[in-house]
Amino acid sequence: PIIAKLFDESQTELRLAEKLGINRAIIVPGNADLQDHVFGLLGTELNAALDLLLPLGQNTITVLGGKTMAEIVPNLSSNLSHHRQLMFVPGRGALGESVEIQSNTVCQVMAHYSNGKYRALYLPENVSPEVLRSLTQDPSIGEVLDYISNSDAVIHGIGAADVMAQRRDLDLTVKSQLRQQDAVVECFGYFFNRSGQVIYKIPRIGLQLEDLFKIPHVFAVAAGTKKAAAIKAYMHNAPKQTWLITDEGAANSILNGI
Ligand code: BG6
Repeated sequence: PIIAKLFDESQTELRLAEKLGINRAIIVPGNADLQDHVFGLLGTELNAALDLLLPLGQNTITVLGGKTMAEIVPNLSSNLSHHRQLMFVPGRGALGESVEIQSNTVCQVMAHYSNGKYRALYLPENVSPEVLRSLTQDPSIGEVLDYISNSDAVIHGIGAADVMAQRRDLDLTVKSQLRQQDAVVECFGYFFNRSGQVIYKIPRIGLQLEDLFKIPHVFAVAAGTKKAAAIKAYMHNAPKQTWLITDEGAANSILNGI
């Protein structure tokens, strides 16, 4: 039934995808701000979309972190590994978040549920650009970075700028710059304003915005009314091949013109 739904887009889903300039939007019932079970629905839709789009054979999937990602993972199934070899890699190194929601953890748990393999990417916090550059010369880190830039798919969340600035523990000068310049969304270390201009970028190695454009399948998973403005702002920059998996809470708010 889920696969059938993927072929049967509702008018609302079509309107949302068109408004955001992306290939597809999938809307699950409810509002994640108020109902925890919505995350399970998002995960089930993600599983079906991956099963539909990923080619058979070897696939490398880059995975980002966050609460949404951590919540949806148990809904992936080992069916994804039927005639496929899946390799999950984390999109960025540690970003100072709690362990359960770091991309390394999400990646490992995804591999567990979908019967795939994974690699970890452990990078120290707050090191100079020179040190980061020399770390990329390390063969085991270099291997993961190669996987990332040659991925077949990316799965990521979208965060509200203020929440993420706090969670990423940015310093006060950066926080006030973000406020002054009206940052509304953070996505894999980039902060954007309402019109999609980059306001600030956390210096990190791993997945970069420009990498996304050459990755065949991009899945953005974000839900709840509180994320509507963030989703809308990020989508100015999203590659066209993005599939957004969201809920009615966010979708209705975007369509009603937040
Ligand atoms: C991550 C992205 O996947 O999700 C972040 O890399 C984003 O950039 C985050 O901000 C959102 O997290 P949450 O906890 O709101 O789902």
